[in-house]
Amino acid sequence: MTINDENIIRQPVGGPPTGKTSLDMEGLSWILFGHAAFQYLNAASELGLYELLEASPGLTQPEIAAELGLAERASSILLLGTTALGTLEVEDGHYRLSQVIADLIKTPDWQRFKDTVAFEQYIVYEGQLDFADSLRTNTNVGLRRIRGTGSDLYHRFSQNPHMESVFYRYMRSWSELANQQLIEKLDWSHTRRLLDCGGGDAVNSIALAKANENLEATVLEIPATVGITESKIAEAGLSDRISVRPVDIHTEEFPSGYDTILFAHQLVIWTPEENTQLLRKAYEALPEGGMVVIFNSMSNDAGDGPVVAALDSVYFASLPAEGGMIYPWATHEECLQKAGFTSCERIPFSGWTPHGAIVAVKQGTNGQS
Ligand SMILES: C[S@@+](CC[C@H](N)C(=O)[O-])C[C@H]1O[C@@H](n2cnc3c(N)ncnc32)[C@H](O)[C@@H]1O
Repeated sequence: MTINDENIIRQPVGGPPTGKTSLDMEGLSWILFGHAAFQYLNAASELGLYELLEASPGLTQPEIAAELGLAERASSILLLGTTALGTLEVEDGHYRLSQVIADLIKTPDWQRFKDTVAFEQYIVYEGQLDFADSLRTNTNVGLRRIRGTGSDLYHRFSQNPHMESVFYRYMRSWSELANQQLIEKLDWSHTRRLLDCGGGDAVNSIALAKANENLEATVLEIPATVGITESKIAEAGLSDRISVRPVDIHTEEFPSGYDTILFAHQLVIWTPEENTQLLRKAYEALPEGGMVVIFNSMSNDAGDGPVVAALDSVYFASLPAEGGMIYPWATHEECLQKAGFTSCERIPFSGWTPHGAIVAVKQGTNGQS
């Protein structure tokens, strides 16, 4: 039998395995070449391929090459990959966005997605080369690839200005992909004074203050980041309600006078022991009835996903600090319990990122909050 095109069973572009279906050779090859798949996404993102096809659907390869200023061979490679991976569709030589990109590009989340791509490319990618060594030694070996002397990634950003701007653009976007649910799914009606521990450029304090007119916030940040935080607060016109304090949250006590303490994308960085210590300081600083909120990605207690939580954990193992991963919900709950909180509530979020929140209230001595 001769093999011609009709005999070949064409697989629809499937995508990588999810852990819920058994892995076949196609799935295994997605993993094998996963780094290359990402490079197609990054190149298309940097070159503006998706925006071009959003504006001019149906362009041909020579037209795309001319618009992007690419040589014939280069455009063939780019279109081969972006089409084979399912981000584009081609019919009779005319290229269009696939549905998922066409839908996303119309929304504000498109820029947030692109900011995440840039973070993976310019910060995560190289450090992940040390993943196996980081597992062997149970520490973040990849930090050796980041210029500077700080003890963790955050204390090296000021020595790497491009990385610093890529990181804070991404961090704002990553928070914004989920913080609308943080605002809507939690009860902030009792919050008057919020302490935002390691609050970055104040993205979450700003969103919460805009949604709750009686809420005031203080962001605790490392000294090198305070300027970035102050300028974002001023840009939002909230300098009268949000302030920043240069504080090392590990070595200094938390200030009192706050009824709510937020850890946003903070307890994924450190070990469970360090997290317990931070939560204990929060417990001590809060009044009875005060609330602590943990907001970040979570993995399943069963340890089998979601896939994004698993993949994101490679970064936390390799780069930012000695400990950290996308912990299971139960790990955060154990830390809360060891810190003194007697009960807490899980609030899973919807969406493609594995975000969620855990809320715990400091009980009074008679068990009342
Ligand atoms: C992953 S970012 C999260 C930023 C912000 N909370 C958000 O969700 O967008 C972690 C932040 O914690 C800050 N940070 C790290 N170590 C810290 C420390 N020892 N004391 C205070 N802030 C710290 C970093 O500078 C960084 O801005």
